Amino acid sequence: VESLTVAELAKKLHREPSEVVKKLFMLGVMATVNQELDKDAIELICTDYGVEVEEEILIDSTDLETYFEEEQDADAQVERPSVVTIMGHVDHGKTTLLDSIRKTKVTEGEAGGITQHIGAYQVEVNDKKITFLDTPGHAAFTTMRARGAKVTDITILVVAADDGVMPQTVEAINHAKAAEVPIIIAVNKMDKPSANPDRVMQELTEHGLVPEAWGGDTIFVPVSALNGEGIDNLLEMILLVGEVEEYKANPKRRALGTVIEAELDKGRGSVATLLVQDGTLQVGDPIVVGYTFGRVRAMVNDLGRRVKSAGPSTPVEITGLNDVPQAGDRFVVFEDEKTARSIGETRAQQALQAQRGEKTRVSLDNLFEQM
Ligand code: GTP
Ligand code: MG
Repeated sequence: VESLTVAELAKKLHREPSEVVKKLFMLGVMATVNQELDKDAIELICTDYGVEVEEEILIDSTDLETYFEEEQDADAQVERPSVVTIMGHVDHGKTTLLDSIRKTKVTEGEAGGITQHIGAYQVEVNDKKITFLDTPGHAAFTTMRARGAKVTDITILVVAADDGVMPQTVEAINHAKAAEVPIIIAVNKMDKPSANPDRVMQELTEHGLVPEAWGGDTIFVPVSALNGEGIDNLLEMILLVGEVEEYKANPKRRALGTVIEAELDKGRGSVATLLVQDGTLQVGDPIVVGYTFGRVRAMVNDLGRRVKSAGPSTPVEITGLNDVPQAGDRFVVFEDEKTARSIGETRAQQALQAQRGEKTRVSLDNLFEQM
């Protein structure tokens, strides 16, 4: 390759992009996460990381995605819920907004429905579902994108009407733009006497987000996460964007998706929250998740209910993996347990080898061919 962005290189090296940025800085190169690096800069970094890098790159050559065949049957693709992440500056109301949406919309009548919390939830609006990821927006973008996972369809950018555009607002805009994800602006805290939505529109226009009212194509929705005003409108706008973008998947195939979060539970062992992105995940499915594998033993939905299957855009918590995967890891379901086990074991071994620093030699030239 001739060039990679810092984020892409970080992914190849299984490092945090921020770490690579720091390393570059130490080496005298100023770069941002989305900046392209030329071959020399890549070489500099790789040399600095040394042999370790080469081994880790080898693991990357068995990208899980390659086990998921291209969709042959375009007709099998059906509409799927949009997956939404909320981003915005500190204290502008991200958490309050997520809570407010969950409280007003999580299928009413579901007893105790909002107690269980798995890091993502679905709401139903006009008979259509929307999936919200709780993962703080920036983590969802940087960690997951660094690992090559794209989980978000739509970004809600929360901007407090009494505070306006702040540094993290701009950061969020840059992330969403880099990921080519549509942005909806939630102008929050409209209940405050000091709310000044015109100022928010003015400031965002300077960042290329021009409201429809001013001849642009960015959707602005005034809301109050605190008293619920405008939330229905916001949800309808999400549906609208979803309709325009036509997000699709085939529920009839074996599942593929991404780890939202994972941990070791004392009683249940490895517990992972997965976002199914294509296909349908079933209890009993042989699965490889990052460098772990197993069979889906039990599956729990966002309401804490046991379920047997989960279709596209559905978040579920699963048990049954031999180890704890990492947020942003991809998962793929295999036809039979034997294949899943064999691929899972090979990947786990490669990861272990890299950890132990056992030498699987490749030259720097080899390295670039692989990249
Ligand atoms: P961080 O997670 O720290 O980045 O903050 P956040 O963006 O999640 O903000 P959070 O939801 O915690 O809200 C911050 C403060 O603003 C809290 O005191 C909320 O009660 C308040 N707040 C959030 N939304 C509104 C709103 O619509 N109106 C008013 N008046 N206050 C709000
Ligand atoms: Mg918060």
